[in-house]
Amino acid sequence: MKQIDVLYSAEQIAARVKEIAKVINEEHGKKAELVVVGVLKGSFMFMSDLVRHLTMPVRCDFLRVASYHHDVNTGNVRMEFDLTQPVVDQDVLLVEDIVDTGNTLRFLLEHLHSKKPRSLSVASLLYKDVGKARDLVNYVGFTVPDKYVIGYGLDSEGLYRSLPYVGIFKK
Ligand code: IMP
Ligand code: MG
Repeated sequence: MKQIDVLYSAEQIAARVKEIAKVINEEHGKKAELVVVGVLKGSFMFMSDLVRHLTMPVRCDFLRVASYHHDVNTGNVRMEFDLTQPVVDQDVLLVEDIVDTGNTLRFLLEHLHSKKPRSLSVASLLYKDVGKARDLVNYVGFTVPDKYVIGYGLDSEGLYRSLPYVGIFKK
């Protein structure tokens, strides 16, 4: 394991996740169901913490896309597996770990829109400063510098997802 600098501690993340959930609860209301769709694998930790603070009836589903090879964004996005249930006429919240170029998100939004949900919103734990997709994300946890980040679900070649904090590799 390489040396890591902590960017956001477990405590900072927990506090921010709670704040995001509060906004979602206020905007969505307590009554209508919400289908929370996690993008595997990176969003698993954020999603599991987020849904625990949601007060409406929640359905959880997942999909998986692949776009990265050896930490280099290849720009091509491929659906590896899709939702298990239809979302037609449902309110859908897509949960991402990080939005960088927005390529993955644009692909996923187009894909999910074709399933005719009643509404579609996006929560991403992290948003990269250099990105040009901020307008596509409704709820952002933290805006991060243009560095490769790991932990709290985010990996580097499959490792570091289990870290309770978000960090960057030491030089
Ligand atoms: P985008 O398509 O460029 O927006 O990249 C989005 C996806 O790339 C995210 O869902 C992550 O899985 C991955 N990704 C982008 N930046 C990072 C990073 O700094 N650390 C780990 N994964 C990243
Ligand atoms: Mg991802």
